[in-house]
Amino acid sequence: MSAANLNVSPELESLIARLPKVELHLHIEGTLEPELAFALAKRNDIALPFANVEALRAAYNFKDLQSFLDLYYATAAVLRTRKDFYALAMSYFTRAFADGVVHAELFFDPQTHTVRGVNLGDVFGGLRDAMTDAHNRYGITSELILCFLRHLSEQEALETLQQALPYRKEFVGVGLDSGERGNPPSKFVNVFAKARELGLRVVAHAGEEGPAGYIYEALDLLKVDRIDHGVRCDEDPELVARLARERIPLTVCPLSNLKLCVVKDLRNHNFAKLLRAGVAVTINSDDPAYFGGYIADNYRATAAALGLSAAEIVAVTENAVRGSYLAATEKTALLGRIRAAAARPIQLTVR
Ligand code: HPA
Ligand code: ZN
Repeated sequence: MSAANLNVSPELESLIARLPKVELHLHIEGTLEPELAFALAKRNDIALPFANVEALRAAYNFKDLQSFLDLYYATAAVLRTRKDFYALAMSYFTRAFADGVVHAELFFDPQTHTVRGVNLGDVFGGLRDAMTDAHNRYGITSELILCFLRHLSEQEALETLQQALPYRKEFVGVGLDSGERGNPPSKFVNVFAKARELGLRVVAHAGEEGPAGYIYEALDLLKVDRIDHGVRCDEDPELVARLARERIPLTVCPLSNLKLCVVKDLRNHNFAKLLRAGVAVTINSDDPAYFGGYIADNYRATAAALGLSAAEIVAVTENAVRGSYLAATEKTALLGRIRAAAARPIQLTVR
């Protein structure tokens, strides 16, 4: 079943469109659309192993996380200069604005770029320029989360953190991504402890392809504030109960889960079950250029497949605000905007 077969009612469509949204799980490299990839390849005189945009898009047929990552790291090779990172992030913000995103916490993978000789200052600089312009142009606020590649060693993660220290003010936290199986959170205890000492916030991908045990490790060893994905928590009822009790946000990415075969059919996704069990689940787009949809597409497909109610959709947007790294006053203001947006049609009917 493809997500395109799923439709929501006009009322829910309108609600999803107008709700102010917070995106907490978005890899900026995963917003590289094939058109931009080819434009940057040309500008930088880099050959992509595909004849054209259509051939690249046709390769977006993944059987698991690793088959996606292989292509994702290969296309990221076109990103070289400050201008390239600016173009990448600005094109994301333009789409995010169209989808009603008001705040985004963006992952980026410095190791994917520094290994190719890209200057870390150019990565931070280009992303920062776009974040500033997105704020001025669209009113979108944003933060950066520096992710360590978990298929590499902890020593390399420590070196990456060290290299990023001159830019400490540019990022709010650290995360952990890339191939999960065989690379448990426990491999990164020291670098996460160091990040926390530096006052950085910490998150980690866990329980996407890896077992529920990796979620416990992320919580208890890395002491994360949120779990990215986390959908395999379901294999352990005690863990689900703990996530609900402690209100630990899960940044779920339904279309990613479908595209990477974490679930076979969106109608079997455990998102609604977790929501109804009291877990603070949120909806996000992960790598939208590769997975067939940005954040509003993820909301629509999930609502349609799982029969989410209007109140549940609103609750999901509120979970994202509460789970974000916005200041308390900003959270309160944004929750007020969500309530106002959710109430609008009712007020019109009453009048
Ligand atoms: N999982 C792990 N690493 C990633 C992902 C993901 O979904 N997207 C980009 N890097
Ligand atoms: Zn991810």
